[in-house]
Amino acid sequence: MWHPKVDLNQIIIRRFRLDDLPQVVRIIDRTLTERYSLEIYHSIYEAWPEGFIVSLIGNKIVGVLASAKNSIYEARILMFSVDTPYQGKGIGSLLLKHFENICREEGIRAIRLEVRISNDSAIKFYERNGFVIINMINSYYSNGESAYIMWKMLE
Ligand SMILES: CC(C)(COP(=O)(O)OP(=O)(O)OC[C@H]1O[C@@H](n2cnc3c(N)ncnc32)[C@H](O)[C@@H]1OP(=O)(O)O)[C@@H](O)C(=O)NCCC(=O)NCCS
Repeated sequence: MWHPKVDLNQIIIRRFRLDDLPQVVRIIDRTLTERYSLEIYHSIYEAWPEGFIVSLIGNKIVGVLASAKNSIYEARILMFSVDTPYQGKGIGSLLLKHFENICREEGIRAIRLEVRISNDSAIKFYERNGFVIINMINSYYSNGESAYIMWKMLE
């Protein structure tokens, strides 16, 4: 596989725009098993535009984080992916930190997410970033796999 060199100083993080959709869908389809209709992307964006962010190198989108507000105090990560050749280079951590700052600015105190119980690398990534497993949901995904609920309280 191609292993691009990444200088984290060249990463730009900004809010998602509708014309990003083709690139975003391509990354999500390559990296996540679950499939989402275009309407889902639109409705996530319309519900909370600040919570839908992308990371770029030049004009190329290399990472996506889409979320929702569960309540005025809690955000929920719905999709989170870094494109395959760009994983393991610090881009996901950068995107997550940026997202946590958006949450703090909005007065949100905690973040939750669901992750496949078999997704060891993502679980480890979230644990390194301060998330803990608080519960499990049986048969959460469309292929019957269960999910862990992970949760982080923001300082
Ligand atoms: C989970 C995911 C979003 C994390 O993003 P990422 O960019 O790969 O994450 P990072 O590079 O910041 O961190 C990953 C690892 O790389 C290492 N790393 C961080 N910065 C690094 C750098 N500059 N150079 C080399 N390695 C680095 C970290 O030690 C980290 O290890 P850990 O996973 O054991 O914590 C990404 O791997 C991904 O898209 N996975 C597939 C989709 C997925 O499972 N999404 C989550 C669904 S809930």
